[in-house]
Amino acid sequence: MFRICVLVVTVAGLCSSEATIPVSQRRSVVRSFNVKRNASSDSTPLQVGNGNFAFGADITGLQTFKPYAILSTWGWHNFSLPTAPGQTSIDDFTGLQWWTHDRLVTYNQPNPGQNDISTWLIQNPQRLNLGNIGFSFDTSDVTENDLQNKTQELDLWAGKLSSSFVYNGSKVDVETWADPDSDSIAVTVESDLLLGSQLGLFIDFPYPNRLKFNAPFVGVWNETDRHETTCEQTSPGSATIRHHLGQTTYFVTLKWNIPGLISGPSKGTHRYLLSAKSKRLELTATFTPDRPPHDREHKEVEEGAQTAHRPLSNIPSASRTWWSSFWSSGAFIDLSSVTSNPNTTELQRRIVLSQYLLAVNSASYNPPQESGLVNNGWYGKFHLEMILWNSLPFARWNHFPLLWRSLPDIYKRFLPSSITRARDMGYSGARWGKMTDPTGRSAPGEINSLLIWQQPHPMYFAETEYRSFPNRTTLGRWDDIITETADYMASYAYFNSSTGVYDLGPPMYPVSENTNPNATLNPTFELAYWRFGLDIAIRWKSRLNQTIPPAWLVVRDNIAPLPVINNTYAVYEGIPQMWTDNATVNDHPAMAGIYGLLPPPASGPPLNLTILQNTAAKIHDLWLLEESYGWDFAMLAMNSLRLGDAAQAIEYLLHPIFQFDDAGYPVGGSRVPTPYFPNSAGLLLAMAMMAGGWDGAEGKKHYFPAGWEAVEVDGFVKAM
Ligand SMILES: *[C@@H]1O[C@H](CO)[C@@H](O)[C@H](O)[C@H]1NC(C)=O
Ligand SMILES: *[C@@H]1O[C@H](CO)[C@@H](O)[C@H](O)[C@H]1NC(C)=O
Ligand SMILES: *[C@@H]1O[C@H](CO)[C@@H](O)[C@H](O)[C@H]1NC(C)=O
Ligand SMILES: *[C@@H]1O[C@H](CO)[C@@H](O)[C@H](O)[C@H]1NC(C)=O
Ligand SMILES: *[C@@H]1O[C@H](CO)[C@@H](O)[C@H](O)[C@H]1NC(C)=O
Ligand SMILES: *[C@@H]1O[C@H](CO)[C@@H](O)[C@H](O)[C@H]1NC(C)=O
Ligand SMILES: *[C@@H]1O[C@H](CO)[C@@H](O)[C@H](O)[C@H]1NC(C)=O
Ligand SMILES: *[C@@H]1O[C@H](CO)[C@@H](O)[C@H](O)[C@H]1NC(C)=O
Ligand SMILES: *[C@@H]1O[C@H](CO)[C@@H](O)[C@H](O)[C@H]1NC(C)=O
Ligand SMILES: *[C@@H]1O[C@H](CO)[C@@H](O)[C@H](O)[C@H]1NC(C)=O
Ligand SMILES: *[C@@H]1O[C@H](CO)[C@@H](O)[C@H](O)[C@H]1NC(C)=O
Ligand SMILES: *[C@@H]1O[C@H](CO)[C@@H](O)[C@H](O)[C@H]1NC(C)=O
Repeated sequence: MFRICVLVVTVAGLCSSEATIPVSQRRSVVRSFNVKRNASSDSTPLQVGNGNFAFGADITGLQTFKPYAILSTWGWHNFSLPTAPGQTSIDDFTGLQWWTHDRLVTYNQPNPGQNDISTWLIQNPQRLNLGNIGFSFDTSDVTENDLQNKTQELDLWAGKLSSSFVYNGSKVDVETWADPDSDSIAVTVESDLLLGSQLGLFIDFPYPNRLKFNAPFVGVWNETDRHETTCEQTSPGSATIRHHLGQTTYFVTLKWNIPGLISGPSKGTHRYLLSAKSKRLELTATFTPDRPPHDREHKEVEEGAQTAHRPLSNIPSASRTWWSSFWSSGAFIDLSSVTSNPNTTELQRRIVLSQYLLAVNSASYNPPQESGLVNNGWYGKFHLEMILWNSLPFARWNHFPLLWRSLPDIYKRFLPSSITRARDMGYSGARWGKMTDPTGRSAPGEINSLLIWQQPHPMYFAETEYRSFPNRTTLGRWDDIITETADYMASYAYFNSSTGVYDLGPPMYPVSENTNPNATLNPTFELAYWRFGLDIAIRWKSRLNQTIPPAWLVVRDNIAPLPVINNTYAVYEGIPQMWTDNATVNDHPAMAGIYGLLPPPASGPPLNLTILQNTAAKIHDLWLLEESYGWDFAMLAMNSLRLGDAAQAIEYLLHPIFQFDDAGYPVGGSRVPTPYFPNSAGLLLAMAMMAGGWDGAEGKKHYFPAGWEAVEVDGFVKAM
């Protein structure tokens, strides 16, 4: 049993006295990886944020030269519905029927006869870039090259971004912070330039577009007549701007510390300027979906009084408290005493920066998108098969409160629509969607509608939570979710009367989304995961002293055996030319996941260690890893760990294709844009396993390879 103080980790420092790696040591490790830049990156911002809201800054600490985004959990927009006859409502969409074991099943796929509504359903809603806030200079043609002495440091321990530069001979110092508790930033600017007219601030608002991948920037700035903004200056120190786009409206409340004036927008734009003449300008910007209540607190500025003696906002101190508490609690790895290997610094850098970036981008009330709150991939939607990778690290690194922001809530919220989805396809229980928006609607798509490996995820999360919190509350709050999920899984499996076993597919897409769905039968990973999910569901009912639905037992005990070809686990049963055709050694090598991401089976025939080893060796030698991305490397690393080869695990985690940029953003590579956060999450899961062990491991202090014994680890939740 790990430390009980996980119950109270949201409060600063409460765990620290019990931690084996003291706070001071953690602080020095973390701060040694503070990100420093002297120019804007073309692909990634530096961010401050809180998991539900993040602000991406360029070298100025704002969004002056690079229009990085301000993204939130709640800011979404629909374009207007199509007008083509018979396609004017989402209820007109029919999907496509495919033969499935002798019956027609309707799949949520684009219908060629309904192109307009199909496309609308894929592209809408899309996540909104809420705006840009930057410096405005006296002349409009100032570029980043016109600034000198640019420096920037992201202080990870405080959540503070400090930036400074020189313009026209004068220094400008900027601090940027995000509020842990609201969708707000606080900015402090100190410069003589503010006293004249050479420097001010702007706020501007983009319009969404229809691009699947909106990276590195989100939205367009030239479609200004399609949306509206209105600004109300409510006092000499505050203003509220309302942004109205079709059915979406949201508000930005600006407050500043000295009397000032908002002007604008300049013609043909939505760009507003703030000028407030003082050497020191403090600004807060709060983004809300609803009109904020009229604020009477801000009287001092209304009366023209200087507030230099008192800070405008408590955001900086709240941010310091939140981040120091985050780093002081939860698990920790310190590699600084490992001197035998030159790669430890890079691995430690990735570990620290991944922790920061996942807390900023993925600790959300909705599942995170793959690109977090940096930019939009898949229109800003999130994928329910990726939630396991994205969110599980919060549990294993002992940050349960961050996990609980979305779990099990999102499964509860999406349960009714998932029950409807299963019923409409002729199954019992709840079938979880795939590429999803906050209403729980899954976007049409051939892969989207035929992927199944997201189905057992609730069991993985529930069991992980129960292992740390084995009580009735845990059992109760997951019970209906697990019941509906297991009902679906049992009814989806198809009894094959010629073989006498329950099959998965066809049609289906396995984890590797590159097979012919009509030929894909009994993929290794999905079979193992079905057994895992049903085992946990059965155990759950026993713990609750409830009757176990017989169908769960029948399917679990008669599910098809894992497919073996030439003494290796194959992608799926009967796949032609396994290992000898490039198409079979490409995409996600999910067979490695059955002994890595998943524990060995608790029921049925045991895995064959020789076959597992053969499979790992073939993947190592033949898989087209240069085409792989993200969590593939983490999955292979976890497989290597269970097979007892920690050195190989490290090698996968430092594979040349598995890259993280100077600020720790996971580089997308040839298939997905940057950042692709499942890489960061995968890395943290693999590290949690190496540091914290797993059931059946020999009970060592950690599982790092030879030469890395000096590593210090603290506070991990063991893997299953
Ligand atoms: C800016 O940073 C780069 C990379 O860290 C470094 O090579 C370069 O010397 C720096 N330039 C200045 C002017 O500090
Ligand atoms: C977009 O439209 C869908 C379908 O009408 C609706 O469920 C959803 O709430 C809308 N979202 C936004 C942000 O308007
Ligand atoms: C799979 O079958 C469906 C019809 O059931 C068909 O529309 C589709 O083209 C087939 N796909 C492939 C790759 O054969
Ligand atoms: C800019 O940096 C240079 C070299 O470090 C220094 O000499 C100069 O004083 C700086 N300029 C300002 C305005 O701080
Ligand atoms: C630079 O500053 C000087 C005064 O120090 C001023 O006369 C000049 O107009 C400024 N130039 C620009 C481009 O703002
Ligand atoms: C906006 O700019 C983009 C390219 O940056 C262009 O494709 C688009 O047509 C422009 N839209 C308008 C309304 O000018
Ligand atoms: C029971 O588990 C829940 C998590 O599911 C946790 O929040 C709660 O504190 C636990 N209760 C007790 C008494 O341990
Ligand atoms: C199940 O039954 C056992 C034995 O009677 C009992 O100890 C336990 O508390 C029960 N569990 C629940 C969740 O009711
Ligand atoms: C098994 O491996 C042998 C030798 O590599 C190969 O010739 C044969 O085609 C393989 N069998 C299958 C079913 O893939
Ligand atoms: C494991 O697989 C190997 C290779 O196919 C086989 O020789 C061996 O008998 C199997 N072991 C068990 C326990 O089934
Ligand atoms: C398989 O992939 C490798 C590496 O990309 C390439 O060299 C080889 O030509 C490919 N083989 C076939 C048959 O496409
Ligand atoms: C360090 O990592 C690189 C891959 O990034 C690898 O080639 C090299 O062998 C590693 N060095 C050691 C000593 O493990």
